[in-house]
Amino acid sequence: MKNLNYPGLPRILVIDDEDGIREGLRTLLQSEGVSVETAKSAEDGIQRVKQKNFDVIILDINLPGADGLSILSSLRTNSSPADVVVLTGYGTVANTVEAMRKGATDVIEKPFTHDRMLAVIRRCLETRQLKNELTWLHDRVRELTATELIGLSPSIREVQTLIDQVAHAPDTTVLVTGQSGTGKELVARCVHEHSNRRHGPFVAINCAALNENLLEAELFGYEAGSFTGANKEGKQGLFAMAAGGTLFLDEIGEMEKTLQAKLLRVLQERTFRRVGGVQDIAADVRIIASTNRDLRSEVDGGRFREDLFYRLNVMTIEVPPLAERQQDIPLLAHYFLDQFGRQMGKSLTGFTEESTETLCEYRWPGNIRELKNAIEHASIVCPGGMIDECHLPKFSGGAVDGSDAIARNVIVLEGADCSIRNLESQLVGRVLEMTKWNISRAASMLGINRTTLYNKIRLYNLGSRPSRAQVSV
Ligand SMILES: Nc1ncnc2c1ncn2[C@@H]1O[C@H](COP(=O)(O)OP(=O)(O)OP(=O)(O)O)[C@@H](O)[C@H]1O
Ligand SMILES: [Mg+2]
Repeated sequence: MKNLNYPGLPRILVIDDEDGIREGLRTLLQSEGVSVETAKSAEDGIQRVKQKNFDVIILDINLPGADGLSILSSLRTNSSPADVVVLTGYGTVANTVEAMRKGATDVIEKPFTHDRMLAVIRRCLETRQLKNELTWLHDRVRELTATELIGLSPSIREVQTLIDQVAHAPDTTVLVTGQSGTGKELVARCVHEHSNRRHGPFVAINCAALNENLLEAELFGYEAGSFTGANKEGKQGLFAMAAGGTLFLDEIGEMEKTLQAKLLRVLQERTFRRVGGVQDIAADVRIIASTNRDLRSEVDGGRFREDLFYRLNVMTIEVPPLAERQQDIPLLAHYFLDQFGRQMGKSLTGFTEESTETLCEYRWPGNIRELKNAIEHASIVCPGGMIDECHLPKFSGGAVDGSDAIARNVIVLEGADCSIRNLESQLVGRVLEMTKWNISRAASMLGINRTTLYNKIRLYNLGSRPSRAQVSV
């Protein structure tokens, strides 16, 4: 239909026993670029709906042998039911009410004009399109705010246990520590989602993003005219906005000491004041703070208030770096691949052995965020099917055991054999060792293809790769 950005051809079924109406609608709708099927009877109509999904069904109320209304609900039993437009005789108000009650989207009286019919169909399709978009958006929001902490390693299970425990103490302050990208914010969201504050808001603020004054105004709000540039009506702060929920103070280690004192007061008194205000306002929030700094040494260095540190440190959840829970890498990789595959509408079925090996051997200095980005990259580059090594981005952080740091340029020639052959044999052997016999990576480092590498392994009798059990990870 013109100016309708419908995904694919809209499919319409016309159920009417009058040949003239069926064929007239077929011609009209087909000329609008719609796919049309027709059925002469109720049974024929039901049969077609069982075989195929339609967007709109135009249903005559007077069908031979069956009243159109009696089959209306059986036409709408699938997971994405069609919109049903009922055709009635003139002036049958009771039918109209009954049809709408049974789930019809609209009712058109016979005889009808083409314009009327097209306007109704267009409205049905527009509404369906909006609903589809809304469902898609809801799914995206759910994905983006997913609070699923993936991982089976003992260290992440420990984190999951702590989350469950602290969730049951809905006012206790929590400190989440860990390297960048390990999932600190996700842990904070999980605590919120598992607690009985989950029906309240989860409000996050990055303490490093604002200067001291702005951060104070943002957190506590301010009274009208309390400082130059302040909004005339004053402003509600995040403590007030998060009431009943959780306030997540990200990068707390970056907060200035004067503001640290004010935060300490809120944690002790459970009340706060707006900037320029004199009234104490109850702070009904759970504070979760996070940092990738070592707060203890920040205290020792005089950069973080000791009293605030103890206030925050009531319950600490330390999120382990990804390199310390390698067994979670394939699980996380599949989880992200599934997410990106769905987002991009691609069928991405998994990872080849080589790409799995590369993912497991890499050190992941950027932790899960880096892994997630790598999988997003691979999902874009891969046309479909399995993710292979060539789809992964180039990594720069080194292998887990630090073997990249081994002086890779030094080759000691044993004995008096200074032949190029000996040199090459040692170089190939060294690179295979460095890559833990990852043939693709070794070939790429040596600047040759995999077949040539296999030939050289045979030629120099370099043996075969060690078994997985011998590879130290
Ligand atoms: N265990 C996990 N399961 C699934 N997704 C995870 C997991 N851990 C982290 N992620 C995802 O990885 C990304 C980074 O996580 P998050 O933002 O929570 O890290 P962070 O520690 O707060 O990072 P930074 O220190 O840089 O702020 C997010 O998209 C998050 O959803
Ligand atoms: Mg974060």
